[in-house]
Amino acid sequence: MAAASVSREAFGSRAGFILAAAGSAVGLGNMWRFSYQASEGGGAAFVLLYVVMTLVLGIPIMLGEFGIGRRGQRSPVGSLRRVAGPAWAVVGYGFAVVGVLILSYYSVIAGWTVRYAIEAIIHGFPEDAGTHFGKVASGSGAIAFHVGFMTVTVLVVMAGIKGGIERASLILMPALFFIVVGLAAWATTLEGGGAGYEVYLKPDLDELMNPAVWRAAAAQAFFSLSLGMGAMLTFASYLGDEFDMPESATIVAFTDFGVAFVSGLVVFPVVFSLGLQGAVGESTVGALFIALPGAFDAMGMVGHFVGLFFFIALAVGALTSAIAVLEVITASVIDEFGVSRRNAALGTAAVVTIIGILPATSLDALGLMDKIAGELLLLGGVLTIAIVAAWVARSTIQDELIKGASPFWAKQVPRIVLMLRYVVPPIVAIVLIFSVRETIAAVGKFIGG
Ligand code: PHE
Repeated sequence: MAAASVSREAFGSRAGFILAAAGSAVGLGNMWRFSYQASEGGGAAFVLLYVVMTLVLGIPIMLGEFGIGRRGQRSPVGSLRRVAGPAWAVVGYGFAVVGVLILSYYSVIAGWTVRYAIEAIIHGFPEDAGTHFGKVASGSGAIAFHVGFMTVTVLVVMAGIKGGIERASLILMPALFFIVVGLAAWATTLEGGGAGYEVYLKPDLDELMNPAVWRAAAAQAFFSLSLGMGAMLTFASYLGDEFDMPESATIVAFTDFGVAFVSGLVVFPVVFSLGLQGAVGESTVGALFIALPGAFDAMGMVGHFVGLFFFIALAVGALTSAIAVLEVITASVIDEFGVSRRNAALGTAAVVTIIGILPATSLDALGLMDKIAGELLLLGGVLTIAIVAAWVARSTIQDELIKGASPFWAKQVPRIVLMLRYVVPPIVAIVLIFSVRETIAAVGKFIGG
């Protein structure tokens, strides 16, 4: 396959690829989405189900994407065409569209994090966090920070795989990791944080049986691992045959879960030590941006610094994820239309920036886009990946995954493919049905005001 794409870019090192894939996974999903989903959906019960979903569904699907991408040596459009047949290219275009939708609201939220970080440097956190959030999340300010964030993202993607994405990940990911672990250590010193740990870590059995919590946990696992829209597929298309993919998928999944889990160890004690849990439950998408700044403000000077680092970590995580999403769209345009990387990145980023004006000016629209693109469409994408990798092109993908794997991992590959064939599709299909119902209800509510 490699012969057909001599000029294709490639990752320079194993660490570079793993950090870029982990960078794609670790992002707002781990800190913002994970915390509010966990507090909405049963705390520890959600967390437990989320771990199970990451292991049982997440790792096999990530390997499905890796296998398709490396075998195809193209963006999702071309890789699916090569691996599964011409008709499947349509799914690849679908992935690019989902990428546009996700990035357009993701960048808006990332803009908020950048704004909070800058404001923290200049004058600390607002006393009235709710009112302040209302200002941050609407009007020209929200649009300006969204545009600024997209500008940085496009600059990295324009610099290419090795010089841009790999280099940024090698610096930013370790930094993010240290900040989050440091914050969690600090959080253990908080008085009154115990109630937060309890909600976060002690599962309630009733909630474990609740299908809505299952749906939320599965959807969160896919969003957080960047699965279902070709991000992992695209990164793997820049890999050579010597690379151990099963091992890398496991490392990436554990890193992603680790950062989400540790972030929860920051968010829950902080919020509970100040009795702000109501703020998290009430306003879903804004939870983190109201409860946490409020808490940081109440903690005086220490809160000021801690909060600054927290929002820097969020912004950094958001950047490495946004880069991955933009890379999927850009790579599709480069591969399919023969456009230069520079023009493809600029053009696609412009489209995303314009669509993002809607979520920048309406929180309801943002929440709805997250439901539709960040949940429902990703579930559909995940199901398609499982079908292609474990039914349509099973032996090709199985061979591909064994290539480069150590003897231990090579032995696991057939088992993982079996999971992808028989276990993953039915579970995802059920979750998808629940998600369709929820999304229809949410759309109805949005239209009805
Ligand atoms: N996984 C990223 C996060 O958790 C978001 C993302 C979703 C990135 C889909 C790429 C593709 O923040």
